[in-house]
Amino acid sequence: MKTTLPLALGIFCVAGVALAADRVAPAGKPAADAAAAPKLPARSTIDWEKMTVAQRKKYMKATVLPEMKKLYVGFDKKYKNMTCMTCHGSKAVENKYQMPNPELPKLPGATDRQGFMALAQKKPDAVKFMGTQVKPAIVALLNLQEWSPATPKGFACYGCHTTAEGAPAAAPAAPKAAGGGW
Ligand code: HEC
Ligand code: HEC
Repeated sequence: MKTTLPLALGIFCVAGVALAADRVAPAGKPAADAAAAPKLPARSTIDWEKMTVAQRKKYMKATVLPEMKKLYVGFDKKYKNMTCMTCHGSKAVENKYQMPNPELPKLPGATDRQGFMALAQKKPDAVKFMGTQVKPAIVALLNLQEWSPATPKGFACYGCHTTAEGAPAAAPAAPKAAGGGW
């Protein structure tokens, strides 16, 4: 597991970058903002791990939501009314804002390389947006470490999304890995 997991995600990252490179300025989009390269938020200096839930909530409200909303609206205007629930789900309060959120679209399991490639083909723009904007932005805003083969405990897509049930390559160990902050 220790070898296959990083491999699958590593390859997926490469795919994300390749997708990013070939579509910097989408052709048929008239919106002025859409053509400009999105500006990702600067890395904050907070110590997320040490913050209380109350402090986290405040920071989410004052900084994370407004910054992330800018990016989401740049991707698709339908997010102009983005709220905490867009990420945390309709049961955000009951669930005490725990992530990942099972209401978000399910992703392939961490070892399901083919599943990720298929997803990237089916939804290239969304996957590119998630991988090149959403993930790095939340990592910067929370001052976390991003997942990489060298930082296997880092923040990944699974910090927000859960996996599809019965993802073929997800070994019995996968749920544990997902719960560990992937
Ligand atoms: C762009 C997605 C996104 C949005 C929007 C968002 N959050 Fe979060 N939030 C996260 C992620 C991701 C985490 C978990 C970070 C981690 O791995 O520890 C989190 C964690 C939290 C936590 C900490 C939970 C705990 O157990 O410590 C609280 C509280 C929280 N969010 C509240 C809010 C509130 C309130 C809003 C709206 C003002 C909001 N969030 C908007 C992504 C988001
Ligand atoms: C900070 C939390 C967060 C992270 C990290 C994240 N996502 Fe998402 N993702 C979301 C939210 C929020 C949506 C929008 C859900 C909606 O529209 O209701 C979403 C939507 C999606 C969609 C569906 C898009 C569509 O239009 O159908 C895909 C596919 C996706 N994410 C893939 C990924 C992948 C792959 C990664 C890792 C590279 C990732 N996400 C990382 C929060 C996140």
